[in-house]
Amino acid sequence: VTKIGVYTSGGDAPGMNAAIRAVVRVGIAQNLEVYGIHNGYVGMMDNKIERLQLRDMANIIQRGGTVLKTGRSTEFMKPEGRVKAAQHLKAFGIDALVCIGGDGSFRGAHALWEEHQIPCVGVPGTIDNDIYGSDKTIGFDTAVNTALEAIDRIRDTAASHDRLFIIEVMGRNSGFIASHVGLAGGAEEIFAPEGNTTVDKALDRIKEAKSRGKTSSIIITAEGQKPGRAYDLAEAIRKKSGIDAKVSILGHQQRGGSPTAADRILASRMGAAAVDALLKGYCDIMIGTEGERLIQVPLDLVTKHEKKAQLDLISLANILAT
Ligand code: F6P
Repeated sequence: VTKIGVYTSGGDAPGMNAAIRAVVRVGIAQNLEVYGIHNGYVGMMDNKIERLQLRDMANIIQRGGTVLKTGRSTEFMKPEGRVKAAQHLKAFGIDALVCIGGDGSFRGAHALWEEHQIPCVGVPGTIDNDIYGSDKTIGFDTAVNTALEAIDRIRDTAASHDRLFIIEVMGRNSGFIASHVGLAGGAEEIFAPEGNTTVDKALDRIKEAKSRGKTSSIIITAEGQKPGRAYDLAEAIRKKSGIDAKVSILGHQQRGGSPTAADRILASRMGAAAVDALLKGYCDIMIGTEGERLIQVPLDLVTKHEKKAQLDLISLANILAT
């Protein structure tokens, strides 16, 4: 391996810049030429590729978003799109890749390896934390803390007005953000796609809490949970109980902002480990974590399995919010 390419793909996540920085600086320290591919697979197909130097990475470890920009591409899902991308990579002489992204991005990387023998190591970067094979993904800790800050503020106004709030967090089809934020934010109820809470159960709990003197409550709901989005939930609650719940959808603010120390450290370690793995001849794998330890997981496994949020966090939150 002499020339490597690095790109970020899918939804951006705080800490992606720290990962790019680690790939570039460790790569250059190992005498590699490092190329940045802009806008993920979109830029790979459009030939938006440039050589990166040490100083290009100055002052980015603390910045949210991704300096390489990102993209979601349907064209790359087709073999013709990947042919175009592979031609550009080969023209630059890029002989290995580091892909920072989620499972859709890894499916693309796996296909590039299978069809064009371009080796790739994945680094899991998504606020959703829904990547099989890694306990933690880059951006999750920051997103949880960002959402938590908002929830603490909402709790002040909920308590002042004796109100019920429904706060919707991101996570696509997974409840990691919801369960973590719910437990850490002292939520009375948490709706997650993996969970089994119903509107009736939630109402029972809220009414029971009220009879014990509780005057305000917070429900955290994941955008992908079964009874529907936050406004649907509020409507169902209103119909069943007459309670007029306030809705707050936190949205994309959860994706932005300066990464926490935990995310910067995770991203730096994973980026460095990805380059190391390529130099040792590994490919078609992802760097993951098991506890504090970094591990290597075949991309094929990563993309074929789902990772589910822990329901024990939700039941604990229920017990603690009495
Ligand atoms: O995967 C990260 C994520 O923020 C999800 O939580 C969310 O469902 C999705 O991306 C939103 O994507 P977009 O920014 O393309 O609307």
